Amino acid sequence: MDDPRFLVLSAGLAILILASVRKALHNSKLDAIPIVGSTGFLASFWDGYRFFANGPDLIQAGYTQYPNGIFRVARFSRWFVVVSRPEFVKEVGGAPEHVLSFHEGIEDSLPVKQVVGRPIVENPYHHHTIRTNLTRNLHARFPDVRDEIACAFEEILQLHESEWKSLPALKTIMAVVARVSNRLFVGLPLCRNQTYLWNNVQFALDVIRSAHIVALFPKFFAPVSALISRTTTVARLMIACNRLVGPFISSKDKSFAVALQTLGPLVAERLAKEDELGPDWPAKPNDLISWLLEDAQGEERTVPALVLRILSTNFAAIHTSSMTFTHALFDLTTYPEHLLPMREEAEHVVANEGWTKAALNSMVKIDSFLRESQRLNGIGSVAMIRKVVSKDGFRFSDGTVLPKGSFVCAAARAIHYDASNYKNPAEFDGFRFARERAEHAATHDLTQDVFKRQMISTAGDFLPFGTGKHACPVFTCS
Ligand code: HEM
Ligand SMILES: *[C@@H]1O[C@H](CO)[C@@H](O)[C@H](O)[C@H]1NC(C)=O
Ligand SMILES: *[C@@H]1O[C@H](CO)[C@@H](O)[C@H](O)[C@H]1NC(C)=O
Repeated sequence: MDDPRFLVLSAGLAILILASVRKALHNSKLDAIPIVGSTGFLASFWDGYRFFANGPDLIQAGYTQYPNGIFRVARFSRWFVVVSRPEFVKEVGGAPEHVLSFHEGIEDSLPVKQVVGRPIVENPYHHHTIRTNLTRNLHARFPDVRDEIACAFEEILQLHESEWKSLPALKTIMAVVARVSNRLFVGLPLCRNQTYLWNNVQFALDVIRSAHIVALFPKFFAPVSALISRTTTVARLMIACNRLVGPFISSKDKSFAVALQTLGPLVAERLAKEDELGPDWPAKPNDLISWLLEDAQGEERTVPALVLRILSTNFAAIHTSSMTFTHALFDLTTYPEHLLPMREEAEHVVANEGWTKAALNSMVKIDSFLRESQRLNGIGSVAMIRKVVSKDGFRFSDGTVLPKGSFVCAAARAIHYDASNYKNPAEFDGFRFARERAEHAATHDLTQDVFKRQMISTAGDFLPFGTGKHACPVFTCS
């Protein structure tokens, strides 16, 4: 330590790091976009730390300071351009993948290519399957889903008579959500297999953990990325990753192996049935496996590849739905005055229409409550992270241009809490959208004009599902 060479070396290294950060942060093409926080170089480095530690406050500060609707914040070695005006948010949402990339945006914080495999990112055909066949079949599969919800709550809660019981909210709800989602994805009896279900939850956690570790070593991993781009099968990819960060990635390797064990035989059986009887065999189940088989081509028609698509769908479905439901449950206990009106509404609607997917559309108070809970809790202070990938950059309608390589996102939380978007924005008003809907119905011809503030409608000022081209395909209509 006392060796002067060591000091010189450390100082040299520090200067090198600072210089490379400075180079990355210095981008004159972004000069027109105001900076929130400090403008000096070292200070903006400090803001990178502040963003890490307290991003929401920094974004809120920019939101208030720059009513033009666009500003940037430093995130260590790069800028994040944040848009806050609903028109700009819509422009981001409407840009095609080859201009503003959703996948490259995710890749920045979650190296999916390295951890899960390139095909998931480069050929995300299952998003199309979910957007079309899955959503169109929600009506047909509603009785099964409802049956599973009822059974799952009964078995998981194990309530007897009027007994009270303490249970951890998120974990309990996750058990229900995983089971109900998989009734739709893979059907009975697998959707009740505990090994299979918890492995889906574990897979998502493992991927996120592995991704954080991979993200720590970007340079270190470059040769591995190159290697991976030449390999085709998931198994080889995992072995490659495994060698480098062994103990961390192997947990994900393990969850993939468990998925192969539990779900693999069912997928193999379906592939065999198709080979034997053709794509439309009698009594073919109406589930995600069948829908995927219709869209999967070439190498995607193998057991490991299909298992990985189903795992990825579970990844997108379980944690998001469980967190949304848990937030709503906590809001219900915090504002219990909403309970009775919603129960009455449900009883009334079911008495008239029965339990159908269409009947859910008539439950306007419940819809409003869920939307309000999403508005206030959201999923994070920013949403819709995209990377500019077109060589000409991305141009907003006011003329601002983002050069290739920059990152852009929407100030979701600040938008949801803005009084010009929502009256008394900080107040939980469970039925605000139901009232708006009634007012709308009183003054509009509803056959001509669809009410835009249902849970499933996205907008520039409502972003829990994103908005535009990549908005969550399961719930949304814009
Ligand atoms: C309440 C529950 C859910 C929430 C809050 C939610 C939220 C989101 C958000 C914020 C996005 C990204 C939008 C963007 O960046 O523009 C998204 C995309 C996506 N979600 Fe969901 N999601 C939920 C449930 C589900 C479920 C149940 C599934 C599958 C069955 C699913 C599948 C997907 C897929 C495949 C995408 C990517 C769409 C694309 O790239 O075009 N989500 N979701
Ligand atoms: C779950 O599936 C695995 C693999 O198919 C099987 O070995 C196990 O017995 C199943 N568990 C239950 C509780 O059915
Ligand atoms: C999926 O949807 C397409 C059209 O959108 C339809 O032709 C096809 O039959 C559907 N497949 C299944 C398995 O339901």
